[in-house]
Amino acid sequence: MRIVVLVSGSGSNLQAVIDAVAEGSLEGVEIAAVGADKHGTYGVERAAAAGYETFVVNFKDYAVRDEWNHALTAKCLSYAPDYVVSSGFMRIVGEEFVNAFDGTYLNTHPALLPSFPGAHGVRDALAYGVKVTGCTVHIADAGVDTGPILAQAAVEVLPGDTAESLHERIKVQERALLIRVLGQLAAGRDPRDG
Ligand code: GAR
Repeated sequence: MRIVVLVSGSGSNLQAVIDAVAEGSLEGVEIAAVGADKHGTYGVERAAAAGYETFVVNFKDYAVRDEWNHALTAKCLSYAPDYVVSSGFMRIVGEEFVNAFDGTYLNTHPALLPSFPGAHGVRDALAYGVKVTGCTVHIADAGVDTGPILAQAAVEVLPGDTAESLHERIKVQERALLIRVLGQLAAGRDPRDG
């Protein structure tokens, strides 16, 4: 199962996937390439350090959003991936991308969707005062963190939690969840079956 992973930031979830592939605990998963929407991400650096092909389709190089979207779609398609994984990729993709990867574009989000979508899922959940939050891996569509849910894990909010401390605990679950989902998909199983 060939995957292209898209990142915008530190890529700690990506690192967990890289490690799992290297350890042989993600049988059948091949990272075809890792891409970003801007230069200088640590995620791309991690991928390059692990010997993977990387690319940047720099959002700021395109005057028109659709042109960026077209370039990103073409670049991802060039790797013929079975799945594209948004792992902390903080851009909404357009119709052309969503149509090209219909049902095969995965996203991971640090909240229990459909609650708290968007770029600040952890902060928003904490501000709302929830006692339990978590993470979600889902098939992404054209919305903001919307689309069919594949798997979720719950994380308790502890007294004194900050967005940072809570996000770190969520990420521990998120990494395990993403690896579980990828392993199930590679094995031809539907993660929704548990
Ligand atoms: C992850 O927690 C991911 O769920 C979140 O960004 C973080 C990236 O961390 N994505 C979103 O909030 C998407 N709405 P990482 O770069 O260290 O893997």
